[in-house]
Amino acid sequence: MRDVKVLLDRDFAIGETDRRLFGAFVEHLGRCVYDGIYEPGHPTADEKGFRRDVLDLVRELAPTIMRYPGGNFVSGYNWEDGVGPVEQRPRRLELAWKSTEPNTFGTNEFVDWCRLAGIEPMLAVNLGTRGPDEARRLVEYCNFPSGTQLSDLRRQHGWEEPHGIKFWCLGNEMDGPWQMGSKTAHEYGRIAAEAAKLMRLTDPTIELAACGSSGRTMPTFGEWERVVLEHTFDHVEWISLHTYLNDYAGDTPALLGSPDLMDSFIEEVVAIADAVSAGRRSDKRIMLSFDEWNVWYRTRRGNTRLKPGWPVAPHILEEDYDMKDALAFGGCCISLLNHADRVRAACLAQLVNAIAPIMTETGGPAWKQTIFFPFADFSNLGRGRVLRTHIDSPTYSANYYDPRGKTDLWFPLPEVPYLKLSAVHGEGGTLTLFALNRHLSEELPLEVLAKGFPGLSVERATTLRDDDLAAINTSASPERIKPVPLAGVGVDGERIRATLPPASWNVLRLKG
Ligand code: AHR
Repeated sequence: MRDVKVLLDRDFAIGETDRRLFGAFVEHLGRCVYDGIYEPGHPTADEKGFRRDVLDLVRELAPTIMRYPGGNFVSGYNWEDGVGPVEQRPRRLELAWKSTEPNTFGTNEFVDWCRLAGIEPMLAVNLGTRGPDEARRLVEYCNFPSGTQLSDLRRQHGWEEPHGIKFWCLGNEMDGPWQMGSKTAHEYGRIAAEAAKLMRLTDPTIELAACGSSGRTMPTFGEWERVVLEHTFDHVEWISLHTYLNDYAGDTPALLGSPDLMDSFIEEVVAIADAVSAGRRSDKRIMLSFDEWNVWYRTRRGNTRLKPGWPVAPHILEEDYDMKDALAFGGCCISLLNHADRVRAACLAQLVNAIAPIMTETGGPAWKQTIFFPFADFSNLGRGRVLRTHIDSPTYSANYYDPRGKTDLWFPLPEVPYLKLSAVHGEGGTLTLFALNRHLSEELPLEVLAKGFPGLSVERATTLRDDDLAAINTSASPERIKPVPLAGVGVDGERIRATLPPASWNVLRLKG
């Protein structure tokens, strides 16, 4: 392979990362809440039932904001079921994931858990089976200090101080036929605008996100965003995006190329949002909340998805992430960083057990999946000014399969650069390079000219790779996949040289 060259300049930045770019997601789904973050009786559980072993891993993963309670779940959720004395809370049929919801964990417990983990809570309201009234009542319950029925109810439930939740999602994937109470763009746009109005009247300090398309492959994608924003433009700050990459086709080069479609998706949504602004001669810019993203395919379709008999906390969506998934996942992190000017919030979906970086055994240990590592790198080391880069890399072509329902859809990827990279200028003069080598069999000789960064030295250089791209971590072998030092990284003036192993996720942290 010829040298792959990258040119960057300290003065040329895409934008500063927002703290909320590094978020994740906790849904009442399978064992994400129950037997995930919350398991009273577990040997490590604290007095509130929060698993301390999971909390330790969450702190290492370092998500900054957490979306809750769904997802598809929220579209049938009565928030009132999850507050008040636990013994009086109802058990209900949960229709999104065909489970029984015990409601022993709800909004207040979630906020407590977030505070303990040092994470900002992000709440979604039900605009599926419910509407603006229940949404503004939840804002009042959470955020109003005292002296009204709902704020005093929160105090009576034991939470004297208001929660001060700032970020609110106006429903979830309302374009999806699978969603309880799904809507047309006009129906949703109207109800979202009215809900936003009432919620903001209740608390003028909140920020609101309208639902964008549940995926770029949706037939309504594009028109949905336009119509929804025409209705909600004056009422929201954010529009959401969701993407799950897949390898149904068993085509690793295509999987590793597929994060580039996330770049296209982001740029298309920016264009649509800005077209709505332009039509109004407005200088307001709607920001993007990529509030569900991950790799997900093994447990996504057919009978692997649900368990019969309406169980509580079933083992569903417990995707085992292998080495190649971690590479595609790292590609998503790079796509998000490289759009830090407009993607100001994002949530890895999800956190524990259900399509998650952290796995647990009920009553047993917790461990890190392969995707844990790129996320921890992204969140711990990716904060700062994302720099523009010019990348000169050989390319390959691939054809990515992303079915919608029973419809086969193929997305040609004619020019996938073997190198996908992001460069972040962080506090204290650090320069961090996140570099994905998508070549499955060849090393990639990398040369970066970092203008304006004289006298760099290597603080950390690691690689995540394995000869077996199907290798996973398990409870019995929790450290099969983990980052190891990357040898041979050299710096000469403003020039950085490294050799990236085949099929690898690499992090080079340099200090000036
Ligand atoms: O994250 C799993 C599910 O994927 C969410 O509940 C839904 O919003 C999406 O379709």
